[in-house]
Amino acid sequence: MTNASASPQKLFEAVTLGPLTLPHRLVMAPLTRNRATPEGVPTPLMATYYAQRATAALIIAEASTPNAVGQTYPNITAIHSPAHIAGWRRVTEAVRAEGGRMFLQIQHGGRAGHPDTSGLTPVAPSPIALPETIHTSAGRVPSVVPREMTAEDITSTVADFAAAARNAIEAGFEGVEVHSANGHLLHQFLGRGTNRRTDAYGGSVEHRIRFVVEVTEAVAAAIGPERVGLRISPWSTVNGMEEGDTEEIYPALLGALAGSGLAYLHVGYADPEDPVLQRIRKDWPGTLMANPVLPKDRIPDDGGLAHGERLLAAGADVIALGRPFLANPDLIRRMRTGAPVNQVRDAYMMYVGGETGYTDYPTLDAVG
Ligand SMILES: Cc1cc2nc3c(=O)[nH]c(=O)nc-3n(C[C@H](O)[C@H](O)[C@H](O)COP(=O)(O)O)c2cc1C
Repeated sequence: MTNASASPQKLFEAVTLGPLTLPHRLVMAPLTRNRATPEGVPTPLMATYYAQRATAALIIAEASTPNAVGQTYPNITAIHSPAHIAGWRRVTEAVRAEGGRMFLQIQHGGRAGHPDTSGLTPVAPSPIALPETIHTSAGRVPSVVPREMTAEDITSTVADFAAAARNAIEAGFEGVEVHSANGHLLHQFLGRGTNRRTDAYGGSVEHRIRFVVEVTEAVAAAIGPERVGLRISPWSTVNGMEEGDTEEIYPALLGALAGSGLAYLHVGYADPEDPVLQRIRKDWPGTLMANPVLPKDRIPDDGGLAHGERLLAAGADVIALGRPFLANPDLIRRMRTGAPVNQVRDAYMMYVGGETGYTDYPTLDAVG
């Protein structure tokens, strides 16, 4: 751990991440924006949106499903067909042309899915429904009981993640982030409340981490561990999560993966005072990316700079920010110069199609 007050300049120092040299330490966190086609193909509008944000040290592109049953919501992106690869290629080329770099987050929703959206009954570690309604094209509807994954489902899902990672590389991404956070499939395997299995994938902590380890190792074997990040969110109760034994899950998981040579570990909603985060920093030998807890209803006037500095002081190497990048295409310039930041204008517009609330946030130049 470094001293308690890292120099404000450290956020703007270069750092290596896997095979990349990042020009500074402020990464765009994955943000689902539902602007793909109904089939999950990225649109030209998405290329514009990401290219506008190319001054991020790294863009982690939004959650993309590795197979049809993993789809969470309407118009989210996917990465399991040639059309998905072609659509994403337009995006990565637009970002590269602006000097940027991208990873793609791979997310399987597990029980956070609905037949009205994917056409399929969702699958999960255990047949326990999401304890809340779920967003579909017809509005919020009651969740359905997912089908318990068989051993064959587990094997094929691991293979789908590996194939999705290969597709992402073909689409021009520098690497992928495996999504094991926020109550999606991998997180559902980790948590005691969602995983009631009695086979080798359920029960003890050692069993509950197995699926996440297998997926991560398969993805690392497919594209090289230095091109793979893993996102976790210890303590998160999003999507009805009950982890049960957070203090044991993460040391066990990271112990199993510490020697894998991954590009980074990404901790969502990271609190510098959290003993689990401190333990993670001690145990994790590689790059640690941390996403601070910003106020729910307001982006701080400094864009998240002070929150980021506190996490660097607590041992993080790289900081991921979500809403500040969403509302500020030129966030880095604003943070460097202390210029005021745009607030998210209408939270509802985060998840509906079109340019409004997406590609029309002004830059400093635009406002003069
Ligand atoms: C509109 C929106 C979409 C999000 N989509 C994703 C996602 O696809 N994958 C993910 O891991 N987290 C997702 N998140 C969580 C963000 O990555 C981030 O952790 C969260 O917004 C907190 O960071 P912030 O305060 O800087 O926005 C999303 C958050 C928002 C607001």
